[in-house]
Amino acid sequence: MPLQGSIRVPSDKSISHRAVLFSALAEGRSQLRDLLPSDDVLSSLAAVEQLGAVVERSQGANGIDAAITGFGGQPVRGQQLRLDCGNSGTTTRLLMGLVCGLGVDAVLFGDESLSSRPMGRVIEPLSAMGARIEAQGGTLPAHVLPAQAPLSAAHYDSPKASAQVKSAVLLAGLQAGGTTSVTEPAKSRDHTERLLPAFGVPVEVDGLTVSVTGPARLHAHDMSALGDPSSAAFLAVIAAVLEDSELTIESVALNPTRTGAFAVLKRMGADISYANEHLEGAEPVGDVHVVFGPQLKGTVVTPEEIPTLVDEVPVLAIAAAAAQGETVFQGAGELRVKESDRFAAVVEGLAAFGVRAWGEGDDLHIQGTGEPLYLLGDALADEDSLRLPTYHDHRLAMTWYLMGLATEAPVVLDDASCVSVSWPSFYSDIEGLM
Ligand code: S3P
Repeated sequence: MPLQGSIRVPSDKSISHRAVLFSALAEGRSQLRDLLPSDDVLSSLAAVEQLGAVVERSQGANGIDAAITGFGGQPVRGQQLRLDCGNSGTTTRLLMGLVCGLGVDAVLFGDESLSSRPMGRVIEPLSAMGARIEAQGGTLPAHVLPAQAPLSAAHYDSPKASAQVKSAVLLAGLQAGGTTSVTEPAKSRDHTERLLPAFGVPVEVDGLTVSVTGPARLHAHDMSALGDPSSAAFLAVIAAVLEDSELTIESVALNPTRTGAFAVLKRMGADISYANEHLEGAEPVGDVHVVFGPQLKGTVVTPEEIPTLVDEVPVLAIAAAAAQGETVFQGAGELRVKESDRFAAVVEGLAAFGVRAWGEGDDLHIQGTGEPLYLLGDALADEDSLRLPTYHDHRLAMTWYLMGLATEAPVVLDDASCVSVSWPSFYSDIEGLM
């Protein structure tokens, strides 16, 4: 059944987290609109409330509206806080950078998945600046203790293109005297750099190096979050592979550090265009129009492109499965340390549908069928059900659900509810487009 119509996808998760965290650190009352009403963003909101920010929530037109009165450099001190980061790596890593120079005593913890994810990548550069963070084995729970002296400004040559690492170091740099900079091997999403100036902190960007000068004070800022391009990518892929589909996805953040999935789909031959492009604050936004059409062709996604579509690889695997020829995601090793091991899960999930995929080092290869995906479903027609493990990972749940639609295979997810991490209304939104 084709998908047709217009939809505004839920707001961007990365922008929502930053809006909440920066407002909490600012002096004054920020009015935030259309925050993503998902478990991850609720984790950030709950954490900043415990740190002393005052949050007044209401139902907005496209998500949560929240007026946040920041603690302005004076968070709750003198008692140990227990900050539950749930499933959210962004909450955890950005919070570590934000609080480690503020004299806070806090234990950060999370669910089973988050507790297995590597935190050494932020603890190491923050410790070099004077932060005191104890985490056995480099995983949660992590105990952030008040630093013994003011943090020192530093330069960090990050071995990874990670926006979470970059943001954590820059946020710590706001408490340090002098200029703190981060250089990355490729450009990761740049919402922190775009948003901090709106909260009153100048940010210098020079190629792959970003710097802030501290000590810096943030002031309140009113803003709205935009549609999440990572969520929009799910719709773009399914519309590109499902016959007779045509979708307009409205008000999507079209920040070039986030639009890699659309670029790759276009390169594969998909009929995707942007309309109504404009700036909202420092972020580009527009409508994404996708029409089912040409046969997709396999492509090579380079390591430099990976950060621009790192969360979209699972869903792009559907496009790769439908394409003619092989698709390779080069240098995709980071997928192993996301909410689940998405590298292995994509190989395993595609195999269940009869699609060949394999890893060669950090390169993920997918052999496209070059045929309509419902033909894969025909081969599975005798099965009562096709059980797909989600590993409680929202992006895997959405991917296999859509693969089920495209193949018409009787997919059963072991945990369908985990979509609440980024898109709570996913299933009803998709039904609404049928
Ligand atoms: C995010 C950065 C990405 C991404 C995550 C959100 C952010 O992680 O996977 O979902 O908001 O900074 P890395 O850039 O650390 O790989």
